[in-house]
Amino acid sequence: MAYGENVLMEIDDGIAVITINRPKALNALNIDTLNELKSAALAADAAKNVKVIIITGAGSKSFVAGADIAQMRDLKVLEGRQMTMLGQTVFGIIDNLDKPVIAAVNGFALGGGCELAMACDIRIAAETAKFGQPEVNLGIIPGFAGTQRLARLIGKGRAKYYIFTGYMMTATEALELGLADKIVKAEELLDVCRDIAKTIISKAPVAVMMAKKSVNHGLDMDLASGVAYEAEAYTTCFTTGDRVEGMSAFLEKRKANFIGE
Ligand code: CAA
Repeated sequence: MAYGENVLMEIDDGIAVITINRPKALNALNIDTLNELKSAALAADAAKNVKVIIITGAGSKSFVAGADIAQMRDLKVLEGRQMTMLGQTVFGIIDNLDKPVIAAVNGFALGGGCELAMACDIRIAAETAKFGQPEVNLGIIPGFAGTQRLARLIGKGRAKYYIFTGYMMTATEALELGLADKIVKAEELLDVCRDIAKTIISKAPVAVMMAKKSVNHGLDMDLASGVAYEAEAYTTCFTTGDRVEGMSAFLEKRKANFIGE
């Protein structure tokens, strides 16, 4: 499925901004939106003129207020299973894109919205943002990998506390827990995210990609296997011209000119 209705994408200066665009439903994720998000994310990852991806929500109130409850209410059991599989697949794709992904959390990040933010590499929150996994209010549990990613991000006990209670966290609480990485003024959110993206773009692209893969895959392994994976990712960096350029530039006291190879 193409994107352009429920999910918009603008590319400028090496940065793709993907916007979930259902503001009347606080950007809730229905099946079409999940499919559009998958298409947009894969297109951004494949595009030569994109180096970093930012995901945000339309309007000033909500990042994503979760899966679409109106659509979910009428799903039969196996359709519910298909929806969780779709959400998990799309968020797994986002988590594993080669390019870095920044969540610009501009408001409610609840349920599937919190799960989407957690599938991104970095979460920058507006001071008005709210995070939570309120699914138990609806008779379900987080189904787009929230039970897994929240526990990995903030720890098992805290993840259970927030999932069992459905408690809605402020941006400050999310920052203290390590769920948000930085809080900024709402009106500055996208500019700050673009600045972070530009900083990342100025680094050696293969090194950034290998760092992402090493952290992501390593966390799913025991320490010795993760360390061994890191050694291989490090060795891959040694095969690049950018590695020679970066080290030469340092020694020659000049700015490195990275080409991504
Ligand atoms: N699905 C569908 N529609 C939603 C929605 C959702 N998740 N969240 C909000 N909306 C809709 C509302 O129904 C409302 O529509 P109408 O104007 O047509 O009535 C509109 O968005 C505005 O919402 P509110 O009037 O409720 O706005 P508010 O400011 O009073 O409250 C809110 C905001 C606290 C975010 C509240 O909307 C809310 O609690 N939303 C649901 C949050 C939630 O439970 N998310 C988890 C969904 S389940 C899930 O995500 C499962 C999973 O892991 C895959």
